[in-house]
Amino acid sequence: MKTKIVIIDKASFQDEELWEAAKILRSGGLVAFPTETVYGLGANALDEEAAAKIYGAKGRPSDNPLIAHISAMEELLPLVTEISQAGRRLMETYWPGPLTLILPKSSMVPFKTTGGLSTVAVRMPRDPVANRLIKLAGVPIAAPSANVSGRPSPTTAEHVYQDMDGKIEMIVDGGPVGIGVESTIVDVTGPVPIMLRPGAVTLEMLKSTVGQVEIDPAIAGPVAADVKPKAPGMKYRHYAPKAELVLVEEEGSGQGQGEVSLKAVEAIRAMTLDQLSRGRKVGIICTDETKGRYPKEAEIRSLGPKDSQEAIARNLFGVLREFDSLEVTLIYSESFPKDHLGQAIMNRLTKAAGYHIIKV
Ligand code: TXA
Ligand code: MG
Repeated sequence: MKTKIVIIDKASFQDEELWEAAKILRSGGLVAFPTETVYGLGANALDEEAAAKIYGAKGRPSDNPLIAHISAMEELLPLVTEISQAGRRLMETYWPGPLTLILPKSSMVPFKTTGGLSTVAVRMPRDPVANRLIKLAGVPIAAPSANVSGRPSPTTAEHVYQDMDGKIEMIVDGGPVGIGVESTIVDVTGPVPIMLRPGAVTLEMLKSTVGQVEIDPAIAGPVAADVKPKAPGMKYRHYAPKAELVLVEEEGSGQGQGEVSLKAVEAIRAMTLDQLSRGRKVGIICTDETKGRYPKEAEIRSLGPKDSQEAIARNLFGVLREFDSLEVTLIYSESFPKDHLGQAIMNRLTKAAGYHIIKV
């Protein structure tokens, strides 16, 4: 299959530039498109065959359910049987935006889309290209991140091309995304909302809107093989670079905006020198404040200033992909404060590291 690329200027596009993409989606094909979080791989969420194609293109296990993306509130009602009060408050506050809500599904949503679950994940993206494309397609759009399963989520159209060229009909290139980590997922089917995946709508924001919020244990650490995480996707080794990634955390750090962690920098420096002397190609993930402190022979990548969680989130997946193409075999990463957007950053980094954390 030849993958067509359509470049769209987010600030000044016309509907007609998206007609072909909308038509492909409506007729059961696959189109990757930008959202404010990461690029999505879209298909008609109500068409079982189209949903099955997504699993094929991504090489994704078919028990991993998909998020149905909508462009306006009236598109939600046919998809669900009930909306809790907390769900309603969260929608009113954060939609359109980087928040996915788990709701009881109606019979209209096929089990192929929900991985056999009786609930459906719904999100209304804020990105103008995503929003308009869904509207023009006229159907809810199932869209997982547009990466091959297990690779870091794509934050540019180039990343999508690397993974999806020849496998899908079209890539809509709307430039780099703004947020860089996937949406926050909150289950609002029970009495207390449960956060299943941290994202740019932070725990602090959720609590300020609905009061009590629980956190699914799968966010914090590895889930035992016999435990079924509520978001099935959370059990897979996600966001993984090809190289071994080791997260270096200073004991007692991790909360608040601490000082540059000198102990961690020293430990990474020493381990890097040792590994370089053994002939390994080493990558380092750090911040603007610390990038000058590491051996020049390593591939050193700053995610941005340490006080900008936004920059760190936006650059994270791109840097992991860059290390893949540089054929680095070992990556050391600094740790980041876990409050606000930092919870999502550290969740993705910890998973990319396969929970390999060295405490210093
Ligand atoms: O930001 C995002 O959410 C991006 C963009 C493209 O919108 N999409 C995305 O989709 O991250 P994906 O498929 O990579 O992640 C969806 C996550 C998975 O962990 C999946 O298990 C969970 O949502 N999920 C989907 N439906 C669910 C359900 N009914 N109950 C619990 N978890 C669900
Ligand atoms: Mg994904």
